[in-house]
Amino acid sequence: MYTVKPELRMIVEDCYPHIRELNPAQRSAIESGYLESDENYIIAIPTASGKTLLGLLAALKTILDGGRVVYTVPLISIQNEKIKEFKKLEKHGIKVGKDPKTSDLAVMVFESFDTLTRFSWNLLREVDLLIVDEFHMIGEYSRGPVIESAVTRARQLNPSMRIVALSATLSNMDEIAGWLDARVVEHDYRPVPLHREVLDTEMFGARDKNQVVLKILEKSIEEESQTLAFVSTRRFTESLASYLAENIRGRIPEDMKERFRTVAESLLEVPGAAGSRPTSTCMKLAECAASGIAFHHAGLFNRQREIIEDEFRKGNILMITATPSLMYGVNLPSRTVVIRDYTRWTGRGQQRIPVFDYEQMSGRAGRPQYDDAGYSYLIAKSHAEALELEEYYVNGEVERTSSRVLENRDAFYRLIIVQVASGLSRNPDELIEFFKGTFYGYQLMENPYMNSFGMDNLQYELEGALDFLVKNRILYPGPDGFAATEFGMLIANSNYSVETAIKLNQLASEMDELNIYRLIYEITRTPDMPLISFKATKSRDPVRERLMDHGLFVMDIGNEEATAAALIEWINERTEHEIENAFNVYAASTRRVAYEASRLVKFFGRICEIMGVYGYSGQLEVLSARLYYGVGEDLIPLVVGVRGLGRRRARKIIETFGDDLRYVRKEDLKRIDGIGEKLAEAVKRYAERC
Ligand SMILES: Nc1ncnc2c1ncn2[C@@H]1O[C@H](COP(=O)(O)OP(=O)(O)OP(=O)(O)O)[C@@H](O)[C@H]1O
Ligand SMILES: [Mg+2]
Repeated sequence: MYTVKPELRMIVEDCYPHIRELNPAQRSAIESGYLESDENYIIAIPTASGKTLLGLLAALKTILDGGRVVYTVPLISIQNEKIKEFKKLEKHGIKVGKDPKTSDLAVMVFESFDTLTRFSWNLLREVDLLIVDEFHMIGEYSRGPVIESAVTRARQLNPSMRIVALSATLSNMDEIAGWLDARVVEHDYRPVPLHREVLDTEMFGARDKNQVVLKILEKSIEEESQTLAFVSTRRFTESLASYLAENIRGRIPEDMKERFRTVAESLLEVPGAAGSRPTSTCMKLAECAASGIAFHHAGLFNRQREIIEDEFRKGNILMITATPSLMYGVNLPSRTVVIRDYTRWTGRGQQRIPVFDYEQMSGRAGRPQYDDAGYSYLIAKSHAEALELEEYYVNGEVERTSSRVLENRDAFYRLIIVQVASGLSRNPDELIEFFKGTFYGYQLMENPYMNSFGMDNLQYELEGALDFLVKNRILYPGPDGFAATEFGMLIANSNYSVETAIKLNQLASEMDELNIYRLIYEITRTPDMPLISFKATKSRDPVRERLMDHGLFVMDIGNEEATAAALIEWINERTEHEIENAFNVYAASTRRVAYEASRLVKFFGRICEIMGVYGYSGQLEVLSARLYYGVGEDLIPLVVGVRGLGRRRARKIIETFGDDLRYVRKEDLKRIDGIGEKLAEAVKRYAERC
């Protein structure tokens, strides 16, 4: 730490007592003049090598000089983790939060930062340092273009802003550095050595891959260490966890059993707090957790995922089986990482995961504050396959990171709309200028084979896109070039995809009268809806029948239809437990999904207004609220009027006392399960207001 200025050092020593000195990777950054420089930087050092601290040091330096910093991350869970970590700085007078308007150090997800670059230019111009964590995400199909366009716009609008990009997995460094006009720090030091190996079933005389995972688990019980296992689907996280739990149940040391049981109980309590009986997924989860194994995927209650991560950190879970969503940036005490599946389903069938994902998953093993060694095991079927996988993954290079803005059509459209709507580009020439500033443009111009051909191609694509956007009444050619219609402005101001907006617009113009069930169904078919998925290949007839009850006749029943059916049940006050039983779906995520649907209903309402389709606004408000709260129409005033009451207690009140609550006594209200003094008072206040 001697290389860091005393005032910075003091803050870091106070907030991070476990950090006594910088490691060699961090030192190489500092010694290159990183903290004194105004230049952009790319810090490309291995997983777990402490990139966050390097980002933070630059942030502190900027803030102490009176500046403002934005630190962007890919996921809300990482945003929360970082805010929790950085909040320790507040006692040194540094404001930490999510909003750069009110924070010296704002941690934002990529999409929120993108919003800032679209319309909040005054605030954007006050940002002195932008840190982009997990910078390799720029090469990801759906999220990459968001970062790319936000960074490009931010650089054009605020040229003096410094950019620091952090990543463990970048290969074509020259290109990226060239684009960002950045200095590069590369180092291969990893504070915790990571042993990477491919195991196979033949080595162990095992029947299948699961048996190999079981062997690894047995070893980690002996060593008292913890393991994180990656598989490709939600269903596999569950089947692997159940298999392991069954096989080690009888062999868990007595002292561990009690701790596991407590975790299982707290996982089982979660649905109750949300007003549902435990779903069968919850029961399965609790059963596995009682043997020290937990599965982790998007079909669980949010709170359950938090509990799993917290308890794993406390050592009360032996192994988490997870989907790749836990792959980036998280710090967990997993000495061992197992990658059981190295293929996954994509639109083009079964595909190998990139080396890139292999590196990120492996990187979750052996994190400095928890372990002194890390082990990553990829599992192959046969010995021959293991040899091949070793060559491909363990000795392989991560893929090049490339721009996706042209490949991802919707992102390309969005980019054009935003440029035009914000007045930054009004004609094809100005748009071409903008694209030259993107990573896409840079890759195009630097590539000698692509250069002239590429430019022609871009021009051609651009013209096609402009035609498409004019045809869909998103842009129109005006006297001073292109401009955005009101519909185009709405899209530019939202984070929704162009496809969603066009679909909902078509629906608004086709409908003779508002059919809320049809609307719910169409919303589930937009790309912006998270979906509730089927659990197994059981009968899908109940979903078909429920949709039919509401006049929706559908032949192929998939997750979109399951989601629509679940949402219909949800607004009729069914619990997650009931929804799961009725349709055999992962119903624990219903609330999250309904929240998104509720926002999309509002978006649809705005589209109707703009298109001159009047008369629905009242009904749409009601539907949006029903989705948000999961209630029938009659319950809305009460659940909106009494914060924290929730739909179950609200229904009980109406059932018991009717809907005129003016003469109900507090004591009587308190007889209802779950209503205490405070809530009873709030209900009384509500009744008096009515
Ligand atoms: N010099 C240091 N000495 C001891 N611990 C450190 C040091 N620097 C960072 N750490 C700790 O190491 C852990 C991993 O750091 P961090 O999360 O920043 O890794 P990372 O480089 O961002 O990895 P990833 O690529 O996986 O996101 C953190 O708990 C951090 O506090
Ligand atoms: Mg990190």
